[in-house]
Amino acid sequence: MSRRRKIYEGKAKILYEGPEPGTLVQFFKDDATAFNAKKHEIIDGKGVLNNRISEYVFENLNSIGVPTHFIKRINMREQLIKEVEIIPIEVVVRNIAAGSLSSRLGVEEGNVLPRSIIEFYYKNDELNDPIVSEEHITAFGWASPPEIDDMMALAIRVNDFLSGLFLGVGIQLVDFKIEFGRLYENDAMRVVLADEISPDSCRLWDINTKEKMDKDRFRQDLGGLLDNYREVARRLGIMNENEPTRGKGPVLVKSD
Ligand code: TMP
Repeated sequence: MSRRRKIYEGKAKILYEGPEPGTLVQFFKDDATAFNAKKHEIIDGKGVLNNRISEYVFENLNSIGVPTHFIKRINMREQLIKEVEIIPIEVVVRNIAAGSLSSRLGVEEGNVLPRSIIEFYYKNDELNDPIVSEEHITAFGWASPPEIDDMMALAIRVNDFLSGLFLGVGIQLVDFKIEFGRLYENDAMRVVLADEISPDSCRLWDINTKEKMDKDRFRQDLGGLLDNYREVARRLGIMNENEPTRGKGPVLVKSD
């Protein structure tokens, strides 16, 4: 792992040079951060769960024709991905009021929104990822109008797919954050889904109890983060109680 060249280290993941040109290895850390890393903890095993859950989601998205950077999971903490140029915009899709939408606009948490809302945030830690409009994105050249169209169309598809996926296992998809990248192939460029989709980047509530099953457990000091992530994985049928022994993916090898 550490013999490979590190390309980038973020709060929850590390990117290493991949085995072939145009590929990278995405390593899932156990670090949990919130409020722009002002709050930080290591939660043993979180990275393993996010790797598995994100693999499952991205594989399914690939299979329904949503283009993503995901190639395959390599081991418990790593996946092989296509190298993309990350667009510095976080796209948030909301179905139910919560989090910063509730605090900013005074909409009561839990209210079902009249329609799904898409928001853009400028990915910039120094500025605390401020919310921005399409005007800002195009004026400052962070993404072009066609790229914004692609991101919005894909975000809606991801929302429809994820909402159904989670509803089927008794979980409400409240909101989520996704990121996109530019994939250069031959002379063409296309916008593909990148980063991860996991309980770190979604709000997931049990449909009956409204129990939070996502990173709000850490943000709000509710405890039990790992148990809830494990329960999400269990309901999706991708992991047995403790060990990822089942599954069709590549043979698991030691990663840490
Ligand atoms: P927010 O309500 O705090 O704006 O968050 C909206 C969604 O985006 C929620 O599912 C959590 C996710 N999110 C991230 O993945 N990373 C972040 O840095 C933030 C602020 C939110």
